[in-house]
Amino acid sequence: MNFDGSKILLCVSGSIAAYKAVYLGRELLRNGAEIRIAMTENGAKFVTPLTFRAALSAPVIVNQLDEPEKFDMEHISWARWADLILVAPATANIIAKVAAGIADDFVSTTILATKSPVAFVPAMNTAMLQNPATQRNIRIAEELGYYVMQTDSGALACGEEGEGRFPEVSQIIDFVKYLLVEGKKLAEKKILITAGPTREFIDPVRFLSNPSSGKTGILIADAARKMGADVTLVHGPINIPIPDGIESISVISADEMHSAVMDNFKNCDCAIMTAAVADFTVPKKSDAKIKKGDGNLKLELVQTKDILAELGKIKGEKFLIGFALETENIEENARKKLASKNLDMIVANLQSKNTGFESDTNEALLLFADGEIKKIPLTSKRKLAKEILRELSKRI
Ligand code: CTP
Repeated sequence: MNFDGSKILLCVSGSIAAYKAVYLGRELLRNGAEIRIAMTENGAKFVTPLTFRAALSAPVIVNQLDEPEKFDMEHISWARWADLILVAPATANIIAKVAAGIADDFVSTTILATKSPVAFVPAMNTAMLQNPATQRNIRIAEELGYYVMQTDSGALACGEEGEGRFPEVSQIIDFVKYLLVEGKKLAEKKILITAGPTREFIDPVRFLSNPSSGKTGILIADAARKMGADVTLVHGPINIPIPDGIESISVISADEMHSAVMDNFKNCDCAIMTAAVADFTVPKKSDAKIKKGDGNLKLELVQTKDILAELGKIKGEKFLIGFALETENIEENARKKLASKNLDMIVANLQSKNTGFESDTNEALLLFADGEIKKIPLTSKRKLAKEILRELSKRI
């Protein structure tokens, strides 16, 4: 792996995992990065700046204001120098400060001053990580465009077992590779995304539909656009605002979605079909409101066109991602859809209280045409969106 002289500012905050940042620094160097170190005052209590300076032969700043005679606006010059700021380990405190826009030391000031990507590798006690305030701050940080890596589970320094462990250095190096190399592969790629439900009107005032909110599709569209992709979003009726910079096409029925997708597919490099397209519709919508009458109503329903299956037949070199929402036999059903619709990847999830339609979280199985399978444990839909794009950028 070669980071090809990429400039990484490694920021170390006050967690016992600070000693692991020394090994991380060495691996970044071994992979060809150029590094500088910034430490919070608490970070510097766990491992001294001298250790970093000596082990990594890299410049270290803890508090620039301590040495006024040398003051040359390093928080600005270092913020400009970095291709990536990597905060590892990141405490609940530094994430909270960044979420609130606080800049009261060298690390937080430099983060506020940079235009480069910033990634956090949290390490903390499980209760601190799961505290709603920390979860909220992580969510805000992600909404602001920062990357927050998933922690590991296992034995923690506090003696407890659980989430919050600093990930293995090799995993962090993979993440950095994604941020510096693979993530850039989506720049200028044309990505077609569908989202939300469709509505099949049976008469002017009634329709068949489902509770899809369109959240996942919009989060994928937003994350892809932030990675420089040229995004077209075809969406059914949804109540979520569409972020700026995305070309959006609003449709109502499965048939309209079919036409819009077909019109836009030929120019795209990749299509991601998150929409919950109605599988059935009426053969002909009644022009007038259907009256109640005396007895029951029998509706005849016919199948809609399977848009994704049609794309699978004409996809050529394009990368095609489908979704499968299941209530049982998730892996088996998804694998069948992957093969029958000729997809490169399918995101399979289960409809339950915390997953699927309308929820903010999801867990998923990612299945690939080459047989690989990846499990994404319960996480925010925003993280899942990024994970899907991460897998796409590895393969596109
Ligand atoms: N899909 C589609 N057009 C349809 C139905 C589904 O493009 N008419 C796409 C969805 O956007 C999704 C994938 O196909 O990416 C799987 O949708 P799903 O409803 O889970 O599967 P179906 O193929 O409809 O099978 P079933 O309802 O029997 O599970």
